[in-house]
Amino acid sequence: MRSVAEQSVEELGGPISVLTRQKGDHVRLNELLEELQAASDVEQQRVLLRIYRLVFPHAFAEESVLWPVMRRVLPDGEELTLQVEQEHQEVNELVTRLERLPQGSPERAPVLDRLVEVLREDVRDEEDELFPRLQNLVSRGRLQLLGLAWEGVRRVAPTRAHPIVARRPPGNVVAALPLSLLDRLRDAVDARRYSGTGALRGVLAPISGVLTKASHAVEHLPMMRRGEDPSTRYEGRAPGFPWATAAGAAAALAAFALLRRRR
Ligand SMILES: [Fe+2]
Ligand SMILES: [Fe+2]
Repeated sequence: MRSVAEQSVEELGGPISVLTRQKGDHVRLNELLEELQAASDVEQQRVLLRIYRLVFPHAFAEESVLWPVMRRVLPDGEELTLQVEQEHQEVNELVTRLERLPQGSPERAPVLDRLVEVLREDVRDEEDELFPRLQNLVSRGRLQLLGLAWEGVRRVAPTRAHPIVARRPPGNVVAALPLSLLDRLRDAVDARRYSGTGALRGVLAPISGVLTKASHAVEHLPMMRRGEDPSTRYEGRAPGFPWATAAGAAAALAAFALLRRRR
């Protein structure tokens, strides 16, 4: 079995094959992880946003499209996919911890180091073990069809950490639409927040915080946890919906809009 990392585009099934698309994302992730390790405190948050935007839809589409196929075609598919689901779960939990640690906190460094380590382990498990096994069992045409399905889901998938939602269908499929909408709204707010002035940052930070907590609260709906293996269940504190903060953020946004109109 040759690792996907050592194979050409042609060997992987052509440009639309799921293996070619996976490898492309993994190469991009490696570049971003190197950028993250060299980033200053201020740049770190911007690089992390780009990593989340790449990693979470990528993994979400693996969990909802690829791993169910692996479980059907490989005799030990259950064991193999559970291992990568546990890695994905750890990534979701580490990023959730980062969300709660303020910039400059000394507790961030070990969490970031472990995040980089688990992301690299996940890529190695997929490229060296799972994908070569899949490649041996399915046709080139099937790899291309899987590539189209995986890409389609990836484009509309959630873009942030969701440790509470199931790592398997049907829970994760049900969760996709509401979480994706909240995440993409949060991406737009955070993009302006990290490129804006001090005043704009002050207004947008609580709005981003409300969206974060709202998405974790939505994850608790029982139908979004269906299908989960007990080993990937989130044991952390369950956040409730922050009504007071939501009201404060809405008031700040209204005041900001009013001030801009008067200028
Ligand atoms: Fe992957
Ligand atoms: Fe993965």
